[in-house]
Amino acid sequence: MEFGVWTKGLATLAVDCLVLGVFEEGELSGEGRAVDSACGGRLKRLLGRGDFVGRPGETVLVGDLPGIKASRVLLTGLGTKKQFQRKAWRRACQAALAALARTRIDSCAIALDRPEAKQLDDYYLGRQVAELTGAALYRINDLKTAKKPPAPALKKVLAGPVRAASAAQRGLREGAAIAAAQTIQRDLANLPANVCTPLYLAEEARALAKRHAGLRAKVLDEAAIRRERMGCLLAVSQGSKQPPRFIVLEYQGAPKGRAPVVLVGKGVTFDTGGISLKDPPGMDEMKFDMSGAAAVIASLTLAAQLRLRLNVVGLVAAVENMPGGRAVKPGDIATSASGQTVEILNTDAEGRLILCDALHYARRFQPAAVIDIATLTGACVVALGHHHAGVMGNDDRLIQELLAAGTRAEDRCWQLPLSEEYAEPLKSNFADFANVGGRDGGAIIAAAYLAKFTQGLKWAHLDIAGTAYQSGAQKGSTGRPTPLLADFLIHRAAH
Ligand code: BES
Ligand code: MN
Ligand code: ZN
Repeated sequence: MEFGVWTKGLATLAVDCLVLGVFEEGELSGEGRAVDSACGGRLKRLLGRGDFVGRPGETVLVGDLPGIKASRVLLTGLGTKKQFQRKAWRRACQAALAALARTRIDSCAIALDRPEAKQLDDYYLGRQVAELTGAALYRINDLKTAKKPPAPALKKVLAGPVRAASAAQRGLREGAAIAAAQTIQRDLANLPANVCTPLYLAEEARALAKRHAGLRAKVLDEAAIRRERMGCLLAVSQGSKQPPRFIVLEYQGAPKGRAPVVLVGKGVTFDTGGISLKDPPGMDEMKFDMSGAAAVIASLTLAAQLRLRLNVVGLVAAVENMPGGRAVKPGDIATSASGQTVEILNTDAEGRLILCDALHYARRFQPAAVIDIATLTGACVVALGHHHAGVMGNDDRLIQELLAAGTRAEDRCWQLPLSEEYAEPLKSNFADFANVGGRDGGAIIAAAYLAKFTQGLKWAHLDIAGTAYQSGAQKGSTGRPTPLLADFLIHRAAH
């Protein structure tokens, strides 16, 4: 895929297709009017017939207009002028790219009017164009045996109009890297759990490290995990025939001594619930329970790809959560790597068990910040639905940084209150604490559990149970929160 910016002369631009915006008032946007006069008012006449009213998400393809070099024009709805903001621009751009991906068009120039610079500056214009192109061209890595439909022809996308071409170009470059990382996350998460096992995740991490300069992978096998005394992680994994793996990815983009950002991913390649077995409906979706791990692996490739000037460590705890003769039972007590003992009252609260050992492992890097990413609780989905991930932690500046990154990246999260009282339900008569504490406020209780392992660290937790994948007809990985993490890392590297 080739990205660039166009600066002037849409009518004479040598591309297959010009993408123009139409407001709901039936009015062509500014860029559109220039094209319209070049082709003798044909577009206005078309709109005059009322066939296309410019609603958000609507598109129409028009061929062979005289007076312009492009063989097609794609009109995309911008909605009403009054409501024309970043969101409407994005929607129009998204719809246009989706429509282009269904044609044989191989090059285009995006020439939508822009909302105010405050809403969308040149850098984010470029980034959004590249990210949305990546999303429009994404094809699920299915195992269907029928002949695949032809791949989209789109090879070249020019973004505009721009004020500062260099900022837009940087946005395009970084957006393309984010889209590539998102594809890595989505492909890993979409794979069935009989393919994507802990071993497979580790091998993929290794292969990606080989392909990216500056990235190193180390994999701990079961014996090495035992040597690290990760008793909680091992308790989860002991019910499965699939052995666990602990993956360490290191990217060095700054001097060695510089404290790294550590990203920790939940890599439950399948979550049956264990002995506390889940209900069958929708259980297949628990193959997505390694989405946090996939996002961490993807984010490390992104840091390497963009040669970000900071150090990043990715830690992935990869296990399968199964019932079985050797499985951990409710009431069993495990000793975590930190030495704290945990009464496992519910084997389906396994994410926090593997994360607590991974978070403890993070300490050896003396990190500047630790962020764990996990499809951790159904309660977070109840609380926030599917638009925002949940964010909690023990460092308000870090949380603010993540909230801001999410907003800029269009990959939002929302803070839930993690105050001390939420740890009270975790009391146990038999161990230092239990791994569950009732249903109410479950997303926060889970974070309160993790907080017991992150004292003295600057730590934040992203619960992505509601945002990492979609159910229903569109079932599949969304690739979130890779854009958020990417924005966070890009900003950290620049400041
Ligand atoms: N992987 C699930 C959380 C989840 C639920 C992710 C729905 C995506 C959609 C997690 O391991 C889990 O089972 N959590 C339990 C915790 C409970 C036992 C305290 C839950 O949310 O029910
Ligand atoms: Mn579970
Ligand atoms: Zn789980």
